[in-house]
Amino acid sequence: MKMLKKAVAVVLCLAMALSFTAIYSSAEYVSYEDWVEYYKTCDNKGVIMTPGSDETEMNFCWHSDRNWTGAKPVVRLSKNSDMSDYVEFKGTHTFSEQASQRSNNVTATGLEENTTYYYVYGVDGEFSDVASFKTHSFDSFKFLFISDVQPSASSSSGDPIEKQTYLWNHSLEVAFDKNDDISFIVNGGDVTATGSDTAEWVGFLSPKKYLNSYPMAAVQGNHDKKGTQYKYYFNNPNVHLGASPTVYGNGYWFRYGDVLFVMVNSMKINIFDNYALVKKAVEANPDAKWRVAVMHYDIYGTGHHAVQEETLAVRRSLAPVLEHYDFDLALTGHDHIYGRSYFIDDSKVLTTPGFDEGKVVDPQGLMYLTASGSRGNSRMDGREYDYEWIATQYRSLNNCYTTIEITDDGRLILESVDTITEKVIDEFEIVKTDYEFKEKDNDNYLEMIIKPLVGEYYVIFEILGDLFDKIASIFSR
Ligand SMILES: [Fe+2]
Ligand SMILES: [Fe+2]
Repeated sequence: MKMLKKAVAVVLCLAMALSFTAIYSSAEYVSYEDWVEYYKTCDNKGVIMTPGSDETEMNFCWHSDRNWTGAKPVVRLSKNSDMSDYVEFKGTHTFSEQASQRSNNVTATGLEENTTYYYVYGVDGEFSDVASFKTHSFDSFKFLFISDVQPSASSSSGDPIEKQTYLWNHSLEVAFDKNDDISFIVNGGDVTATGSDTAEWVGFLSPKKYLNSYPMAAVQGNHDKKGTQYKYYFNNPNVHLGASPTVYGNGYWFRYGDVLFVMVNSMKINIFDNYALVKKAVEANPDAKWRVAVMHYDIYGTGHHAVQEETLAVRRSLAPVLEHYDFDLALTGHDHIYGRSYFIDDSKVLTTPGFDEGKVVDPQGLMYLTASGSRGNSRMDGREYDYEWIATQYRSLNNCYTTIEITDDGRLILESVDTITEKVIDEFEIVKTDYEFKEKDNDNYLEMIIKPLVGEYYVIFEILGDLFDKIASIFSR
């Protein structure tokens, strides 16, 4: 009898293992029926990796059951699939948003390029199954840009969450099937629908095949702002709390190869915090050859959100800062309509030689990209928006993704794909021959930010500015 029980258990385990691999083992995409079955096994304890402070670091964050011993979270990293010769990294933990769980944060350092790393994560000797990620070249690399996943468990959200997450997984399936050389994912925000429902995080984390193997850098969106949970799921590097930190998460920056990524919380009311973040990030990376900003609000975007007052306020306060610090590209979300702007500088839409042919060299100003939705929530409003700053837009209900490749010979190559038709919908290339960082010689750019916001009261800032100058001159004598 005992033997029979054992045999049945083995067969059941094998069947479970096979049913899991049946979902993920072939190059064919998962069927909806298989996904619905698989989804029943998902929870909110999956890991989210985030690029660390630079390309040699990897940050880990995961939820686990509350552990009363206070044991530190641990990540073990090995170059061998049997985890032999592992290196162990210990981190910190905080209370999570749930009484029965905690949020664990670990940073692994010393990563090398073109290497496969196997890892386990855990607490108090209880480790996850072995997973792996691969680093590619640090000099030339490709990343994936998606946005607005925002799975919702609410009955008013249309599709059931299984359908939404099936489409979210499908976006990643297509992107990674076509690109086996992606180093990390950038997410333009609205990570979840309310930021306060665990079911949304179960949904967001459900494409484990991809999220266990690719780090993701995400900004906060207006939907994340509705709750407080974002910060318990992401272990971001170089977080800038500023003078008015928010409870749901703050801006941060990281460096990957020659590129500085500044991840802005565009919902912050205190515009000086974002100015300080950008300034601090740029000054810490004077040798970066490219500067990319990521923010949720599509300040030169594609749909009705792009001209709402809160978006315009961010445009007025942040665009001059990005221009001042010589940014090349801004990646945004929010409108769920894919589009790409002309190059813009000083609030002007520029005519850039080569633009219409899809390739420009050392352009002035910066270009803004707006992502579609990522889980079947792309929008096709009744009317087409003909904003003067939009060079191309893609009106479809399908999810799209964008890959951006930065090469060591000075090219940024952008390609966007419809995940249902799998057709390329947009391509563009920026070539850089001149890497000199050109901070704009414009002392008044703070005036440019503040004046439109405070109008006639700007005189107060002028008086205060004069006063500070006088005090500074007294102390410098
Ligand atoms: Fe959104
Ligand atoms: Fe949004």
